[in-house]
Amino acid sequence: MNTNRHNSFNQIHKGLRAQLYDTALKIQQTDMSQVEAAAPVIEQIEEVLFLFESHAHGEDHYFNEPLEKTNPEVASLFEKEHVEDHRLADVLSSLIASYKEAATTDARAEKGKHLFYAFNEFIAFNLYHMNKEEIELNAALWDRYTDSEIKSIEQTLVQSIPPQKMMKYAKWMIRGINNKELIHWLEEVRAFAPAPVFEMLIVIAETELPTDRYQLIARALKYEVKAA
Ligand SMILES: [Fe+2]
Repeated sequence: MNTNRHNSFNQIHKGLRAQLYDTALKIQQTDMSQVEAAAPVIEQIEEVLFLFESHAHGEDHYFNEPLEKTNPEVASLFEKEHVEDHRLADVLSSLIASYKEAATTDARAEKGKHLFYAFNEFIAFNLYHMNKEEIELNAALWDRYTDSEIKSIEQTLVQSIPPQKMMKYAKWMIRGINNKELIHWLEEVRAFAPAPVFEMLIVIAETELPTDRYQLIARALKYEVKAA
C-alpha cells in the first residue's frame, strides 16, 4: 500500500470498525434472554446496519460507479461485495424482527444466539471488505485520480450526508481514530467548514473521549478548555 497517497477510507473505516467492535462486545456482555437488557444492544445493531448501508451506497455512487468505464473489474468486484454486505445486513434485520417476536426467555436466548453469530459474520465480512477497499480499490483510484481529485470527491460525498446522520458517523470516527488524525481532521474542519460544524465536533469529542485525551486534543488545537 502506498502510504504517501491519500486514503479516503481511513477515517470512516476506523469509525465503522470501532462501531463493530463496540457492538460485538456489548452483545457478548448482554443476557439476550432479558428484554430490557437487550433493547439498547438491538438498537445499536440497527444503527450499525443504518450506517453501513448508507456508507456502501456512498462508495458505490462516488467511487465504484465512476470506475465502471475505466476499471470495470475493480468496480464490479466492490459493487458485488456490497450486494453480499447487503444480504448479510438483511439476515440481521430479519433476526432482529424474530428476536422482537420471541415471547419467552428461552426463545429470546435462542434468537439472541443466532443474532450474535450473524453479527460475527457481518463483522468478519466487513473487516476483510474494508481492508480490500483500502488496498485494491485505493490502488485503482490512485491510478485514475490525483490526491486532490480524490479529496474533492470525498468532500462531495461528505456534503451529501444529512447532518444528523453525519453526527452519528462523527461519534464513531472520534472514538476510532488516533490523536494525530483527530487533530488534523478538526484543524481542517475549523479551516474549511462552517463554524457550527467545528463546535459540534468539539462537543462530541468532549463527550466521547476520556478527559486527559480531550484536553490534549483541545490544547493541540489551541481551543480553550472550559474549567471543570
Ligand atoms: Fe465498502
